[in-house]
Formats: sequence, structure tokens, C-alpha cells
Amino acid sequence: KFTQRVFSGIQPSGGLTLGNYLGAIKRFVEMQGQGIETIYCMVDMHAITVWQDPEALKRQTRELAAGYLAAGLDPSKSILFNQSQVSAHAELGWVFNCVARMGWMNRMTQWKDKTSGKDAEKSSLGLFAYPSLMAADILVYHATHVPVGEDQKQHVELTRDIAAKFNHDYKVDFFPITNPVIEGSATRVMSLRDGTKKMSKSDPSDASRINLTDEADTIAKKIKKAKTDAEPLPDSFDALEGRAEAKNLVNIYAALSGMTKDAVLGEFAGQGFGAFKPRLADLAVASLAPISTEMSRLMQDPAEIDRILGEGADKADAIARPILEKTYDIVGM
Ligand code: ADP
Ligand code: NA
Repeated sequence: KFTQRVFSGIQPSGGLTLGNYLGAIKRFVEMQGQGIETIYCMVDMHAITVWQDPEALKRQTRELAAGYLAAGLDPSKSILFNQSQVSAHAELGWVFNCVARMGWMNRMTQWKDKTSGKDAEKSSLGLFAYPSLMAADILVYHATHVPVGEDQKQHVELTRDIAAKFNHDYKVDFFPITNPVIEGSATRVMSLRDGTKKMSKSDPSDASRINLTDEADTIAKKIKKAKTDAEPLPDSFDALEGRAEAKNLVNIYAALSGMTKDAVLGEFAGQGFGAFKPRLADLAVASLAPISTEMSRLMQDPAEIDRILGEGADKADAIARPILEKTYDIVGM
């Protein structure tokens, strides 16, 4: 029925940021209902690779589901569920732990970043093996495309390596070689305080990010205080070379408005950030306020969220289970 199958997930390890929205959720919504089968997940098993307060994890998982729904994800068009509800993820993850090599995991830059300056010996084994479980998340659906932000590119490449090694080791043509889909103006939204760091829910500075649930005046204040330079804006994006913070704000404006970056600069050329920032703040508030209002409305009825996820899990399981069974058969189990 479908020629493409899309899978992607987000960790329920904290509130959603503008980076998650522009780099992931907004694009997930754009892909649904285009003759593409879309499967989206809250990857709670990835979240526990670092310790999570159990009550907070439960709340954040529902909040993330509310975020997906509020941003326009439609359960009649997309499958939405929690990773831990479909045990085929963990089961295929184990098989892939036996296919992937320690050296491959050691080369993951996210692993190196997360453990740099710390004692890697004290990290969980799960944090190290995380990309192998991510490969299982994708391949247990034979997904052909994975929309992600730039920070996940290496993990999707590892997914391709695992599929190819499995196919080679067992002399089969079973797992597809999945394509990462990293497109748009906001594949890497940067911190508002430091143009060299990506915007992240795990950054200790709240001023570094815009949260989907921030109030309008908080959003405006954070954008006003965002680090920039004193130069006026040029008339083309190429001329922003070397101005990381300026580029980031223009990228965000383009992604939120649906305009090209050059069209944005066409509008602001010659003006400084004193003129640009209030316009960006208005645009961000207008885009995010309806989502956060809808999120709070959905959070009033957690049973309804759980019902949607339960239905999604059944649909996901119906696709994943036969692929897992076939994998076991190929492996000799
Ligand atoms: P985080 O990095 O905020 O903890 P996740 O690791 O759960 O979020 O990532 C969820 C999705 O959001 C991934 O597709 C990731 O690439 C995307 N993403 C996260 N941060 C950003 C960002 N700053 N810019 C663009 N996309 C991002
Ligand atoms: Na990430």
C-alpha cells in the first residue's frame, strides 16, 4: 500500500525545545498522509540510559505525546506509541548487540561527547549500546526513511552498517538500508547563548533554549537576550559566513515562517537585531502558543492520551512482530 515507511522517535527525558519542534516534530507532521506510512514513538527505553525519576518519566512521556498531538500529529494518519509498549524493539536490539561491534560504538561522537570529561566507566552499559537499540527501533519496521536532526546522522549511518552486516553475515537481503532525511532550515538549531552548541533540553541554562511550554513573555525575553553581534543583516545568507548566532536566528525565522533564508534577509537587509528580534519573537509566540495551549488541554485527560498510545502500540506491534519472528528464524532461533 505504501512505498515509503517512516519511523522516528524522541526521548521523553524533559520538555520539548524549539530544536525538537523544528528539527523533528514539525517535519514528522509534514510527512504524514502523503502516501507514506508514518510511525512515531516516545523512546522511553532510551531515556533511562541516564537515571530518570519514575514519576517524572511517566509525566514527561504523556507530555511528549501531547506535544506530538498538539503539533498536528493525527492518530488516524500516523502510528503513535511508547517504545516500551512494543517489546520487539528490545528483542531486536539484543540481536543487534550481537551484530554491532564495540569499535563502531566507540566511534559514536554523541557517546564521546556525553562521556568526555567524565568517567566513561561509570556510564550505563545502555548509554553505550543506545545506537544499537536505535537501529532496532528503525529496522523492526523495515523503515525506509528516518527524519531526524543533524545530531542523529551518525546513528542512522550506524543503522545502515548494522543492516548491511546482518544481511551479509546471514546471507540474506532482509533489512533495508534506511535513508536519513535531514532537510529544511532548522536541522541544527543552536543554543541562544552560544552559537557553537546545539539547543538541547539537557542544557543546564534555561535561557539557552525555547521550551514549547514557555509563556509568551518568556519567549520574547529569551529572544531579546539571545547572543548576537552588532552588524546589520546582509541581503543574502552566504554573506552571514562566520556569524554563527546571526545565522541561527535567521534559520529559526525561516523555519517558523516557511520562507527561504534569502527571502527572510530580503526583508531585513540593512537592519540590525534591534529590529529583527521583536519580529522573530512575535513569530515564535504566534507559532508556539497554539501548540502549548493545546498541550495543556490534552494533559487534562491523561486517560485519553493513554488510549491513543495503546491503540498505536497494537498497530506498531502488528508490523514489528512478524519482522522479529522472521529475524529469529534467519538467526536460527
Ligand atoms: P534532545 O537532543 O533535545 O535531548 P532527542 O535526542 O530526543 O532530543 O532528539 C529528538 C529529535 O530532535 C532528533 O531527531 C534530534 O535530531 C532532534 N533535535 C534535537 N535537538 C535539535 C536541535 N537543536 N536542532 C534540530 N533538531 C534537534
Ligand atoms: Na539528541
